[in-house]
Amino acid sequence: MVDLSVRIGDITLQNPIQPASGAFSWEYADVIDLNRLGALVAKTICREPRVGNPTPRMAETEAGIIQSIGLPGKGIQYFLDNIVPEYAKFEPPLVVSVSSESIEDFAALATELSVPDVDVIECNISCPTRNTTGGNFALQEEHTKEVMSAIRAATDKPVWAKLSPNAGDIVSIALAAEEAGADALAIANTFLSLKIRTDNFRPALGNKFGGMVSPALKPIVLRMVYQVAKAVKIPIVGIGGVTKAEDVVEYMLAGASAVGIGYAGFRNPTALTTIIDDLEAWCENRGIERVSDLIGAVRDDDMETDTLAAASASV
Ligand SMILES: Cc1cc2nc3c(=O)[nH]c(=O)nc-3n(C[C@H](O)[C@H](O)[C@H](O)COP(=O)(O)O)c2cc1C
Repeated sequence: MVDLSVRIGDITLQNPIQPASGAFSWEYADVIDLNRLGALVAKTICREPRVGNPTPRMAETEAGIIQSIGLPGKGIQYFLDNIVPEYAKFEPPLVVSVSSESIEDFAALATELSVPDVDVIECNISCPTRNTTGGNFALQEEHTKEVMSAIRAATDKPVWAKLSPNAGDIVSIALAAEEAGADALAIANTFLSLKIRTDNFRPALGNKFGGMVSPALKPIVLRMVYQVAKAVKIPIVGIGGVTKAEDVVEYMLAGASAVGIGYAGFRNPTALTTIIDDLEAWCENRGIERVSDLIGAVRDDDMETDTLAAASASV
């Protein structure tokens, strides 16, 4: 029997598999047993009802999808009254995701979301189709520090910072979030992208730019998780391109304590529970008794850390 449990700060997850925000809802209970998941993660909620971005909101590419949904939702009051109770019917901890364009409102929302049925507040400071001063705080160290400090002061709940792969130096953003008091980091949101139609010469998405999701991006996010894990002490949830148990293992070896899964659940709604089963079998076959032993267990001690120096070393 493999112990699949992992800890993210004070929260214990029964296994490291959780859905990614925006790619999941309690309605998945029609298809999979939600009580098997490590955590439940709700779609990002904002204060006011939002209709979302102009259509089309999704476009296919050869290597994945680009999307610009625009955080549609019915606002925080509806969320608290109607959606939190839906999630509360299930056992795994509930991670709510929140976003705002102003620091003050972000902090106020964190306070309002601090109700008993909410276990974690994930701060979506990285929505790729927002500009830096409009909610995409995770592009700049200072903005990250300011918003995460305000949120930290506004709630006693664990707060996770969802970072952006579009930041120039994600390690310094991660350090800023840690310094501001984040309990964990979710790495990462989607990659800012563009598709142009060749039939009418127009951008394929109504909002022009979108966030790309694809298994092809996993090595890039994995590299980010690896680099951030070497720099911070707080746990990391690796999110990007997970489609199978070995991807979870890779993220954990790189230093993640858990993973979030979006895209794979669109392709196959039973992917999350299949990956839990496969991860258990993967560990069992190798005599690994605790999946948490994989966290940061990449064997690289004997390798040159400065890759530029390694590349210039004489052969
Ligand atoms: C349709 C769609 C909607 C998304 N909505 C949100 C969202 O509301 N909040 C958020 O933080 N991330 C959102 N994301 C990003 C995912 O949570 C995740 O970071 C990203 O898809 C990468 O993981 P994946 O490769 O497993 O899909 C969304 C992604 C998709 C595809």
